[in-house]
Amino acid sequence: MTDKPAVDATSIWDQRYEAGDHVGAKIVIEGDPVDFTQHKFLYRHAIAMPTTGSEDGWIIDHLGREFLTPPPDRMLAIGVGMAWVEEHLVSQDFARHITAYEMSSTAIEAARERVRDKDYAARLDLRAGDVLEENLPSATFDVVFVQAAIHHFDRIEAMFSLMHRVLKPGGLLIYDEYIGPDHHIYEPEVMAILNAIDACLAPRYRWDVLAKHTRQHVPIPSLEFMMEHDPSEGVHASRILPLTYQYFDVIHRVDYGGTVMRPFFTGILPNFDWEDPKDQTIARLIILLEQMLTKHGILPHYHTSIVARRRKLPRPPLTLEEESRINYADWPGLKEVARSTRAGGMIARVFGKG
Ligand SMILES: C[S@@+](CC[C@H](N)C(=O)[O-])C[C@H]1O[C@@H](n2cnc3c(N)ncnc32)[C@H](O)[C@@H]1O
Repeated sequence: MTDKPAVDATSIWDQRYEAGDHVGAKIVIEGDPVDFTQHKFLYRHAIAMPTTGSEDGWIIDHLGREFLTPPPDRMLAIGVGMAWVEEHLVSQDFARHITAYEMSSTAIEAARERVRDKDYAARLDLRAGDVLEENLPSATFDVVFVQAAIHHFDRIEAMFSLMHRVLKPGGLLIYDEYIGPDHHIYEPEVMAILNAIDACLAPRYRWDVLAKHTRQHVPIPSLEFMMEHDPSEGVHASRILPLTYQYFDVIHRVDYGGTVMRPFFTGILPNFDWEDPKDQTIARLIILLEQMLTKHGILPHYHTSIVARRRKLPRPPLTLEEESRINYADWPGLKEVARSTRAGGMIARVFGKG
């Protein structure tokens, strides 16, 4: 158990959206000094390629074509922030209607203003509030969609129970999430590998623009720091996959690392000249290293993209044994699921056959 956070999560998000610090997931990724998922070059090689099979692909369009065509009538989107992705989904006819919830009224007001005059505005119902407190009716939605928000839910069991309850029978849950250790307190064996890679970099690449020094190791936040500055970040991230398998049947899962990429590039991203073939080569070798280490079950995955079908009745909670390697490529799956199908399927999607 941890102490009560010094700051509440909603005011943190309001401040971020007001300051324009967090624009959120968008189709055009311009580049970000910190977050590898929002960086064009890294997105192309570390995310687009494994999740869509193309450097030019976008995970949302890829899932939309495969799972949201023809479009579902009613989608519930949760933790939508500025609702860029949800706007894209309605505008591209990947959903006929979206009910979109976000705690930050600042973000919702900005999103309303942006879509007000669009011809699809009536199909995007933007609501400010805590989705867990809304008493949404049961068996109402065809799809629940979440982009990078489940890992911010403190009441994670209530969140999964809600997503299961509001879906119609056979409805789909679609999400893209950080699923690594809670509060980003990475495992010592992961840190050892990160630091060994870090030691290979010349000092000019190790200048930490956030800490303003040449780093001697990859920084890892303390729990006290996280609770003080960002208490909801990754709060129960490690529960996301086990709860997904408990409430849903996973029909599509593409893990895409992030284990090296997120902590390693945070703070040193701007040291690279992203047009320079030599710097590109270094970055691509680090991406390759992560992919080889995850492929062979040496490192777990910290990010995944999931499509799962609502189970009529949830399973009992997974056993510790069932959960133990759930983030690894060699995870054998639940006992009831044929081993070869799941593990083989996951590995084949990321690296092609063989
Ligand atoms: C990392 S942001 C993701 C925003 C957006 N989906 C994106 O990808 O840009 C997580 C969002 O979840 C929202 N959130 C957290 N708990 C919530 C709740 N109980 N109900 C509604 N929104 C919530 C936060 O306010 C925050 O804007």
